[in-house]
Amino acid sequence: MFLRNCWYVAAWDSEVHRLQMTRRILLNEPVLLFRKSDGRVVALEDRCCHRHAPLSMGRLKGDQVECRYHGLRFDAAGACVHIPWQESIPPGARVKSYPVAEKHHWIWIWMGDPAMADESKIEDFHWMDDPGWRSKGERLHVEGNYLLMVENLLDLSHLPYVHATSLADTAIPKNEIPVRYERDGDRVKVQRWVRDTPVPPYFRLLAGLSMEDRVDRWMNLEYSPPAMVRIDIGVAKAGTGAPEGDRSQGVTTWNLNAITPETGRSTHYFWAQAQDFSRDDPSISDADFQLVHGAFLEDLAMIKAQQENIDLRPDAARLNIASDTGGVMARRIVERMIQREQKAVLPTAGD
Ligand code: FES
Ligand SMILES: [Fe+2]
Repeated sequence: MFLRNCWYVAAWDSEVHRLQMTRRILLNEPVLLFRKSDGRVVALEDRCCHRHAPLSMGRLKGDQVECRYHGLRFDAAGACVHIPWQESIPPGARVKSYPVAEKHHWIWIWMGDPAMADESKIEDFHWMDDPGWRSKGERLHVEGNYLLMVENLLDLSHLPYVHATSLADTAIPKNEIPVRYERDGDRVKVQRWVRDTPVPPYFRLLAGLSMEDRVDRWMNLEYSPPAMVRIDIGVAKAGTGAPEGDRSQGVTTWNLNAITPETGRSTHYFWAQAQDFSRDDPSISDADFQLVHGAFLEDLAMIKAQQENIDLRPDAARLNIASDTGGVMARRIVERMIQREQKAVLPTAGD
């Protein structure tokens, strides 16, 4: 069961083209993505209403899609407009069409009640197209449930273990700083600050800070449903007011994550890394991306292994410890929202 009345990321803008159809399973539904001749993105159910052939196997004729099996044709709104072997088109001959929006280099899709789709509710990922930042990202395929990925991102206590050889030294040492968890409506914030400390190797490498520098450093996470996690990581010259909001003496990296269920046990993981320093030096952006990419592959291996065990015994008990606080809060928020949505009797419920 997934939350449906919300925006998910369906694709990077660079993944969807004119004259080319892309099939992607999202929330257990086959979705066809393409660009019309005017460049606007269309998302249709990728299942012909005749005998359920994937429309993505067919052909684009202008802005219409022709099914490869028996030639039924659909317009960009999903209505059947042509049946080769008969004059009349039966009422209701159509496939679902989904509201889509293009923002921050991502293509967003609304898979719930189309009347409720409101673009102003799309989460803020402006770092990906703001000239004050340089960013680079990708899509990864995760062989595990999307909430395992959310938990992974909200609990950074795994860094010294899963990422022993990659990101371990970016972790703020335990006991050095209190972690503050905060619930803000349907959002979870996890804040970590440490004052007057040596520069972590990650920022020595990327931002050219020296070993002798002392910094205030932070690693602050924000979760918003269904599965967006933004992590604000940075350092500033010690004592220059960063914890109070003045980052003029600092450098920041944002790790930006949008997690979209494919099925109950697989996930599309869209992420990017953005920096406000060395913006004219692509090698820094590449280095940051590669570092995090390598670490995420380590996460994906762990999540795949977790999912295998979960499949063997889905009802096995899970022990929660203190560092799970953020992940547990996120799960509760999603569960509650899904319950609310189900009670509201969604038109698509039970599909
Ligand atoms: S299955 Fe599409 S036309 Fe028959
Ligand atoms: Fe990780």
